[in-house]
Amino acid sequence: MTRIICICSGKGGTGKTSVVANLGISLAQRKRKVVLIDADLLASSLGFFLGIKNFSNTLQDVLMQRADIFDALQVGPSGTFVIPADAYSLEAQNLELLPPSVQSLDGKFDFVLIDAPAGFDSIAQAAMKASREILIVSLPTTVAITDAYKIKALASSFGKSTTGIVLNRVKNLPNELSAGDVKKMLALPILHVVPEDRNMEISTSTEKPLMIIKPNSPAAISIKKLVSNLIGEEIEVSWLTKFRSKLGF
Ligand SMILES: Nc1ncnc2c1ncn2[C@@H]1O[C@H](COP(=O)(O)OP(=O)(O)OP(=O)(O)O)[C@@H](O)[C@H]1O
Ligand SMILES: [Mg+2]
Repeated sequence: MTRIICICSGKGGTGKTSVVANLGISLAQRKRKVVLIDADLLASSLGFFLGIKNFSNTLQDVLMQRADIFDALQVGPSGTFVIPADAYSLEAQNLELLPPSVQSLDGKFDFVLIDAPAGFDSIAQAAMKASREILIVSLPTTVAITDAYKIKALASSFGKSTTGIVLNRVKNLPNELSAGDVKKMLALPILHVVPEDRNMEISTSTEKPLMIIKPNSPAAISIKKLVSNLIGEEIEVSWLTKFRSKLGF
């Protein structure tokens, strides 16, 4: 059975698209068949994060029934499959077609990761309904965790369970919530804690995935460990990689 995971957050800018792109690449590098879907239809950015410039068919084409979902699959970095959204389009119609379209991929891939828009609108809801499980990406702040709580409740109202939470951009500042606090507040497992890493910003601004340009950076190593968690396989991290990770290069 395919793990169809919707990557969500209540608050914007928590790192959902960064996690989808790099988690997807890392899974593909570990020989998993992965589809990455850009369901952030009105503010799409996954194509930029993956460095994909030209799309033949997009998720909008699938929802407008101009293309079948299999005709919208294109090959992305490291052998990922990507269903991009048109970043210049304002089309977000026929959202009721999103769940059956995504579910038609079931059984043909190991993972489908859906990049949802921030918040609770009809697009985010359709992305959740299309999935089998929810993964929340949150900042370690009270505002973000309050919104994460509402995502968990909304998902549960659709009969979807939340697998856990990825705490992102953790700087270990005194005013941040700790992983232990968040676990208690949300009653959810903390799947991983991803540190603040300036390489992520560099990756975003150069439109080159972190996992490709800085695979040994702290955030990249952290996402590799998240993959290990998801697939239940350990990775060997060499002493050199650990050393580089500590120094941030
Ligand atoms: N661990 C990190 N360290 C430093 N910067 C990060 C980290 N994770 C993400 N970022 C940066 O945060 C910004 C927002 O990331 P991203 O677009 O992935 O968030 P998002 O949740 O998808 O946003 P939106 O809600 O707008 O879709 C980007 O500039 C990205 O480079
Ligand atoms: Mg995003």
